[in-house]
Amino acid sequence: MEKSSIVVFIVCIGFFYFIKSDVAEVKQDIITINNAIGYVKIEQSAISKRLDVRELDKLYELKLTKNAEVLGDISCGKCHNSSDTALPIRKISVSEAINIVRFGSEKSQAGGMPIYKSFNNGKDAFISDSGLKQRLENLYTDDLLRTAVSKDR
Ligand code: HEC
Repeated sequence: MEKSSIVVFIVCIGFFYFIKSDVAEVKQDIITINNAIGYVKIEQSAISKRLDVRELDKLYELKLTKNAEVLGDISCGKCHNSSDTALPIRKISVSEAINIVRFGSEKSQAGGMPIYKSFNNGKDAFISDSGLKQRLENLYTDDLLRTAVSKDR
């Protein structure tokens, strides 16, 4: 082999060696950056969950305020006034809620809720159709339904 090709050969080996170690470094950097991104993502999801909790807290407060506002002046407010009893309790529609007021559910009757007639006969509990619908529409809103438990609980 000629002297000059040996020199070229050695230079090439040196060159490849440097490139290889550079690549290894870059790979290491990428791993470090990926790890950092991973941590940021975990932190971000933790923070957004905490925000969700805060938002839900606000909704629960709003639920109590709304129940007092909407039902406070009539007999319903005597029972539906705490974090457990404020409406909506379950994720049901306004018409399903109306049915419970008119015909009762197992739980409402067990808890002593009267069955409300839509007219005043002088002896039974009553609430007008329009009054009932309007009040329940103010409570069974998309926002407040987020605080309700599932229908079959
Ligand atoms: C004597 C107490 C009492 C009174 C008064 C009362 N309720 Fe109830 N109500 C209950 C109980 C107990 C339940 C069953 C709670 C459960 O399912 O966990 C209930 C359930 C309901 C539900 C179903 C809740 C859900 O989302 O699952 C609606 C709607 C409702 N009541 C509306 C009314 C309205 C409107 C009035 C007034 C016109 C009224 N209630 C008066 C005790 C009462």
